[in-house]
Amino acid sequence: MHWALKLLLGLIIVAALLAGGLTWYVTTSEQREPSRQAYSEICAQCHGASLEGTPQAPSLALADLRYGDSTDALITSIRTRHESTDVNNWQTRYSPSMIKALALYVSEQRQQIPTISASHIFTLPQGTINSRHHAFKVEHVAELSRGPYAMAPLPDGRILVSEKVRGLSIVDTNGQQGPLLEGTPRVWEEIVQVRGSYVGLGMMLDVQLHPDYETNGWIYLSHSDRCQLSCGSAWPVSMVRVIRGRINRNQWTDTEEIWSVHKDNYTVVPDGVAAGRLALDGRGYLYVTVGGKSTYDNLHVLDTPYGKIHRVAEDGTIPEDNPFWQPAAERTVASTRHTVFSYGHRTTQGLDAHPKTGEIWSTEMGPRGGDEINRIAAGGNYGWPLYTNGLDYSAEPITIGQELGLDFAFEETIAPVVDFTPAPSLSNFTFHQGDQFPNWRDDLLVGSLRAQTLYRIRLNDGLLEEQEKLLTGLGRIRDVEMGFDGLVYILLEHGKSGSLIRLVPLSSDVTE
Ligand code: HEC
Repeated sequence: MHWALKLLLGLIIVAALLAGGLTWYVTTSEQREPSRQAYSEICAQCHGASLEGTPQAPSLALADLRYGDSTDALITSIRTRHESTDVNNWQTRYSPSMIKALALYVSEQRQQIPTISASHIFTLPQGTINSRHHAFKVEHVAELSRGPYAMAPLPDGRILVSEKVRGLSIVDTNGQQGPLLEGTPRVWEEIVQVRGSYVGLGMMLDVQLHPDYETNGWIYLSHSDRCQLSCGSAWPVSMVRVIRGRINRNQWTDTEEIWSVHKDNYTVVPDGVAAGRLALDGRGYLYVTVGGKSTYDNLHVLDTPYGKIHRVAEDGTIPEDNPFWQPAAERTVASTRHTVFSYGHRTTQGLDAHPKTGEIWSTEMGPRGGDEINRIAAGGNYGWPLYTNGLDYSAEPITIGQELGLDFAFEETIAPVVDFTPAPSLSNFTFHQGDQFPNWRDDLLVGSLRAQTLYRIRLNDGLLEEQEKLLTGLGRIRDVEMGFDGLVYILLEHGKSGSLIRLVPLSSDVTE
């Protein structure tokens, strides 16, 4: 065999071994997670493998724990309730952050938050669901072919669906998914799927109708734009980009670019953290979220797009009243400072405008713990990665902010309106509108991925008033939207495919 061929063969074998090793490492990481291991090593012998309790120690799974079940109460219990039961000196061995990780483990188990792999399982709830203000049932609308990210119900009852590695298509009123629309930006197949998540560059992201869609036909679409040699890169790189266009038969037409960044800002980080959520405030502005794309040091650099919410006018022009606006002559060619609206975000997976005030609200995924619902203020600093209620999955505190030398006071940051610890992996949400569920009007209906839970959040004067789990064990919720028929549509992703379901009121059973 020619030496070059041998070398090539050798390289292929090494690459295959590396890929195999990586897959093993990732697929077994949930079992190797430190607090899970510590629980089974130390705590399980008294509290039971599934928290069910033993004659030596109480169950930790019961509704009411004697000493409270907030993260702080659990930390205190783990520290102070075990003076005479110190097996293997664990109390002196475990660091404060390991104790917090154990507290998070216990509360994740109590809230039955499944592992990420288990969260891909979908079960359609049967029968009547009695929630606090409405009784409803869940109806299956459509099966989708590949992992979906977003949807936009159309006035005629059809539903636009965006699938990350596939593109845009329309589900008709019989629940049939039509062919891909032609003329939308190109998307690429994933490189690999890790625990059900697509790892790749160049994906379709959010889709939103203009508030006056019925008269102007505009549809806003975000995707991660991918390039390689044309960006001066040896590797494929990508970045969030927003366009608008119209649909004519099965063709995407009239494309206009609404928001994009200089190619110097494109990165090799996979698009799972791209975000790209869109919101139109009905007052002429469009907001778009851009994930951290793992470039922590840039989240507080206003010249970069990462970890920010950006704001432009609906037609793509840039409002001079943006909080950090600068004339082109004063900024560097790749700077995005002029479109930044708020910063210090991690992965803003949900975005919507309050129907009455036009105010922008977001959901944000924390690390382990510290998911947030935020009210977005012009120029606001949202604190990540210096301030978070979360913890790293390695059971270590998050110290990236300090290591990077970020320096600002907690008081300068805007605290979340609702903190979710343990973290359900909050995804997109909608402010409830319409007449079918009158007692939910203006409430946030919030989806989650890992927790497979649909939350209802009622705000009063911008503060949390009521929080309810409407559905759990549903599947990974990617998007929640109001249909023009007043029903609540929910987009689920499971493994390679997805489903569209809706909530239908059982009006005779309205409970309050
Ligand atoms: C040797 C047995 C033993 C081990 C090991 C042990 N516990 Fe406990 N634990 C107990 C007992 C007994 C209580 C009840 C103490 C009391 O009521 O004051 C308790 C109480 C608790 C409580 C408070 C329960 C409540 O109702 O509020 C929590 C939380 C807890 N343990 C968590 C843990 C965790 C986490 C670990 C592992 C790091 C652990 N325990 C290891 C025996 C044990």
